[in-house]
Amino acid sequence: MKAVDIIAKKRDGGELSKEEIEFFIRGYTRGDIPDYQAAAWAMAVYLRGMSHRETIDLTLAMVHSGEILDLHEAAPFVVDKHSTGGVGDKTTIMVAPLVAACGLPVGKMSGRGLGFSGGTLDKLESIRGYKVPLSIEEFLTQLRDHGVVVAGQTADLAPADGKLYALRDVTATVASLPLIASSVMSKKIASGADAIVLDVKVGKGAFMQTIEDAIALARIMVEVGQGVGRQVRAVISDMNQPLGRAVGNALETAEAMEALRGRGPADFVEHCLIVAEQMLILGGKAEDTTTARRILTEALESGRAWDKFVEWVTAQGGDPAVLTDPPDLPRARLIETVPAPRSGYIAGLDARQVGLTAVLLGAGRTKKGDTIDLAVGVVLAAKVGDFVEQGQPLLTIHANDERLLPEARERLLAAYTWSETPVQSPPLVYQIVP
Ligand code: URA
Repeated sequence: MKAVDIIAKKRDGGELSKEEIEFFIRGYTRGDIPDYQAAAWAMAVYLRGMSHRETIDLTLAMVHSGEILDLHEAAPFVVDKHSTGGVGDKTTIMVAPLVAACGLPVGKMSGRGLGFSGGTLDKLESIRGYKVPLSIEEFLTQLRDHGVVVAGQTADLAPADGKLYALRDVTATVASLPLIASSVMSKKIASGADAIVLDVKVGKGAFMQTIEDAIALARIMVEVGQGVGRQVRAVISDMNQPLGRAVGNALETAEAMEALRGRGPADFVEHCLIVAEQMLILGGKAEDTTTARRILTEALESGRAWDKFVEWVTAQGGDPAVLTDPPDLPRARLIETVPAPRSGYIAGLDARQVGLTAVLLGAGRTKKGDTIDLAVGVVLAAKVGDFVEQGQPLLTIHANDERLLPEARERLLAAYTWSETPVQSPPLVYQIVP
């Protein structure tokens, strides 16, 4: 078998056999197939797509490119969640301790922000001392002793995805259904959780632009997971406008902490509760969403979710002195409030533009390995459906470089569209699959 023949077959719209897919993934992981051939292959897959069967074979080949964790020595049943990536998505920081506080262990390996979409690990690192890289031993110990762990992906799990994702990011081949499905599910299966709730984002600030594509992605990921004996459900959620109000690492961590104290923005809290309900149902802690909601609300209102957050973060190295009210997280030097340029209802708030502006301010990377500024970002005072009077605060820019303020202001104002008449705020969740 030769890599060039496999690339040509896919370029011409052919269907790759299981053996061809395994040969390619094994060869690329080992370094026998170079980046330039993998890049050509990824572009061929991006343009030609993959059949259902090819996508499943690709995912399993990527799972078997490395180790598969067994979490059962730490806990009898472990749940995980994964978002396909969005703007202002700090869901894990609230949901992980909330679900753990309900007696269901949460073991999660997260990623870093790339492009316009943020990453949980960067957000957590705004808590001084929080240790992202854990050995497998440390991961299991934290899970066993505290029932919640969120760490970086170790190099031994799905290494094919580690290599391929970095390559896709710089070859414009990220937004491909089979490549996203195999990337997400290979990591999730290798990380060992018994049940996985997928948060599939759709809209301007997501990789999937249409609900049909998001549902197709969700269906195949659910099927792949179930095919290897995991319980999987997907929540299809809106990402046309950012989730919550804060976009930027420390700003988002602070917002998630506010939510755990019972003071978060309504849309963000509701989204977290919907995801957490599905986790409790899959984990056998509740038969239906009504029961799950009651259990979760009790954990939040009693303060147990907050206490679990403090326990988790401090056990993972976070300095408890920063978990004050308000928290002592990195703060930007310049805080500029931008007033509304007109009166009216907000009809749209382009999540991608907000995410890209946060990157411009330094909150995200334009290429792998860039250093980021944890303090900077944007806080939205008004979102879709809100009525705003001209001159009222529309948003706040948190920056450390005054030279970036004019462009940030201009881009953020352009992200808003307006209406004279009332506008319905978009639904948070479109569907739950299956
Ligand atoms: N998240 C992932 O883990 N992989 C992708 O390909 C896209 C989003």
